[in-house]
Formats: sequence, structure tokens, C-alpha cells
Amino acid sequence: MLGAEDFIEETVETVKKQITGKAIIACSGGVDSMVAAALVKKAIGDKLLAVYVDNGLMRKGETEEVEQMFKSMGFNYVIEDAKDEFFSALKGVTEPEAKRKIIGEKFIRVFERRAKEYGAEFLIQGTIAPDWIESGGGVRDTIKSHHNVGGLPKEMGMSLYEPLRDLYKDEVRDLARMLGVVASERQPFPGPALAVRCLDEVTPENIAVIREACFIVEDEIRKYVAEGKMKMPWQYFAVLLPSRSVGVQGDRRAYGRTIAIRAVDSIDGMTATYSNIPIEVLGRISQRITNTMKDSVNRVVYDITNKPPATIEWE
Ligand code: XMP
Repeated sequence: MLGAEDFIEETVETVKKQITGKAIIACSGGVDSMVAAALVKKAIGDKLLAVYVDNGLMRKGETEEVEQMFKSMGFNYVIEDAKDEFFSALKGVTEPEAKRKIIGEKFIRVFERRAKEYGAEFLIQGTIAPDWIESGGGVRDTIKSHHNVGGLPKEMGMSLYEPLRDLYKDEVRDLARMLGVVASERQPFPGPALAVRCLDEVTPENIAVIREACFIVEDEIRKYVAEGKMKMPWQYFAVLLPSRSVGVQGDRRAYGRTIAIRAVDSIDGMTATYSNIPIEVLGRISQRITNTMKDSVNRVVYDITNKPPATIEWE
């Protein structure tokens, strides 16, 4: 990549030439889409509308947090409530690639509607290199269809513009710091959101379980990092497994869900090693999950697999 400063200057010039009318940007509040939004806003100002889709699959408090970021960045924005649409499209689906394709398609349909209303011809996305590399095509195998690439439908009524296509996460973070993007240090979060951390049908009930478990993992890890007891992993979250196992609660039999904790260290997400989380921290997370979620979860495990052979997310 060019130096961050040159890249910003060059991109702003290109956007000014290529995008003459209005545009919308698919903005999840993650570092990639926030940087893409900040760059394009520099070029076309308020002709850019940031669209955040509340698909019912986001983390606890995320919609409110993202709205605050939009306000602090001075974005022209809209929050689309599409929860029912996503849940009904995902009904009965458990196969990971099918989930990803449905989610990619739904996102585009919401963006198309909004673009039409706003009079935008362009859809900007914060796609980065690993998204299209892992989505396959040509001689490349499909590892997983990233929602914003392999999950895109064949037909869509907008032109796509992706200013960060050739960059990796560490490079995007450099740009974020330079552009004063508040999301610069947020951990990566996949576009298909909690749907790919729920190894089961994507129902509001299952999503509520994984949302709470992810919140506990994030909250405990941040606490221990702040106390200097461990270093911050690159990414850390929970996964809801589809199997049940036998447990005991008081003197009664339980037959509950299993949560896997995943934490990895990486530079660009293309390879990763599992984080060495102190056993005390893992024990505390396990206890908090099984105490506060005792009606649903009775077992917690830690994933000690690198990428490769695993991937970071389980789906
Ligand atoms: P994997 O699971 O492929 O993930 O090792 C590598 C990094 O990418 C994130 N990820 C996604 N990001 N759209 C995204 O924008 C997606 O569809 C997607 N799937 C995975 C993942 O969280 C990790 O940081």
C-alpha cells in the first residue's frame, strides 16, 4: 500500500471523479466500513448516506454504540430495522454457506430499497482483501462466502464501489488512526454477525443466548486486560454449539447447551494463533456464563486451534 497519507489523498481524488451523484454506504460500525465512510465523506460530503442495518444479529448494545459513532463522525445516517426480515429469511437454515448467502442477499435488498429512496446510484462497501480472497472465485477455493462478496446476489440495481479492496486489517487500522475514526481499535466482527457464531438455526432465542455469552466473554476479557492480568487478544468471542450435554443443577439433571470461547492473536486475520488466556480468566468466564445463563448453558469449553487448520469464526 502507499503511505497512509498518500492513500487517503489518492482515494479522495478518485472518489471525487467517479462518484458524481449520491451514494449510500453499508456501514456496520466496524473499522473497515467506518474508514470507507470517512474517506468517501471527505470526497462527497453529505451526498453520502451511511446505512446501518439492525438485522437482529448484532451484539448487545451495538446499535446504540454505532449510532453514537455516526453522530460523533458527523455522518448523514439512517438505521434500518430489518430484524423480522432477516429472521424469517433464515428460518430453518443451519448450513453455514446457506446462511451467508441469505444474509448477503438480504443486506443488498435493504440497501437497494434505501438507495432508491435516497436517489443513490452507488453502494460503497468496506470490503478488504481477506473478504474476497476467502470468498473464492477463479482458481481460489471458497473458504467462506463473506457477506459482502460471495454472499452478494448476481443482480443488483446499484454500482459497487470498494475503496479498501486491496488492504489488510492492519493497514485499515493505520488509516483509521490517521482519519480519527473512533472505531480504529474495535475488534473485528463478521458481517453475518452472530448468525455465524450460532452453530444451529438462527432464531431470536438462539441469538439471545449467543449474544449474552459474547457479551460476558468481551466484558470479562476487557476487565482482566484493564487490570493488567493479560494482554488484549486480536479477537475474542463466544460460539453456541448445536449439541446438548448432560449436567447437574442442584440435585436435578440438566440437558443444556455448550458455549465455546474463542480468542486469537493475529495481524491481518489470514492466519491466527489461539490466545494464551490465563486459566483464572477462563474459569471466571465459565462460571459467569453458567451462573447467569443456567437455564440454557451447562458447559463451557475453550478452543485451542490455530488458523490454519481452523478458521477464526466457526462458520
Ligand atoms: P475467518 O473466520 O475466515 O475470519 O478466519 C477472518 C476474519 O474475518 C472476519 N469475518 C468476516 N468479516 N464478513 C466480514 O466482514 C464476513 O462475512 C466475515 N467472516 C469472517 C472474522 O471475524 C475474522 O476477523
